Amino acid sequence: MTGTGLLAATQSPPHPLSAEHLDHFYRDGSGACAIMSVAHFPDEILTFLQMECLAAFKTAVAEHCDAVVELGCFDGRALEVARAAGVPYCGVDINSGAVAALRERICDEGLEAQATTLVGDAQESVRWSTHVPGRRPLIVLPFNLLGNLPDPRRALLGLRALGGTVLISVFNEQPRTTAVRRAYYARCMTGLAEPAEGRYGGAVFRGAQGFRSESFSAPALHRLLRECGLEIRSETANRLGRSLTVGRA
Ligand SMILES: C[S@@+](CC[C@H](N)C(=O)[O-])C[C@H]1O[C@@H](n2cnc3c(N)ncnc32)[C@H](O)[C@@H]1O
Repeated sequence: MTGTGLLAATQSPPHPLSAEHLDHFYRDGSGACAIMSVAHFPDEILTFLQMECLAAFKTAVAEHCDAVVELGCFDGRALEVARAAGVPYCGVDINSGAVAALRERICDEGLEAQATTLVGDAQESVRWSTHVPGRRPLIVLPFNLLGNLPDPRRALLGLRALGGTVLISVFNEQPRTTAVRRAYYARCMTGLAEPAEGRYGGAVFRGAQGFRSESFSAPALHRLLRECGLEIRSETANRLGRSLTVGRA
């Protein structure tokens, strides 16, 4: 091989499933729009999202939260929770296009006084925590966001440091759920690999552009929360997953 050939080989783009693509799916690519498009949701997903929204509202009221902060907000589903609870809202997403679209929605609905947005990484709460409203916020990790994060433990420790109450919604490890997820992800991306065993008792899916999403068994999630110094205040589950309200132990 010539020197030029060697250079070309070492500079070739990373494999589509490699860690070097990790952020690309959500941050820069069209992945966020694909995964959050209702047209791609298998019917059963809707009951999971309904459960999550009602759990968030119940928690906001029960814990007297004075704001709702939605991480991985995309088009601001939890803005409806804040609207119903009558508290300020802040949507945080790593995808700047999603945040721009949410800002437009906020203007269209005349909610500029109640709702704000920011582009940020859920795992880097130190970078954005001073910009979020409320002294006792409800921080929502919706729709299996925790299972998308490269390091869920780091994210949870960061959120614990913020104080407040955290609502975590995740898919379970049941074979039926894994089948629903497979159908969902296959509609959203190319190169979807067969599921493998995840780190938290669930199944991990990987796809092109660094897509990665894992589910959680109840015992493994409970252990992770305990190890992060978070106690469970309430929990509700349906056949696809669970929504947990947690706070500092
Ligand atoms: C809520 S997750 C949906 C996950 C999907 N339902 C699954 O099963 O894996 C999608 C949203 O989270 C956002 N997101 C992904 N990683 C993020 C991160 N580290 N910080 C903030 N937002 C993130 C994406 O841009 C997208 O708008």
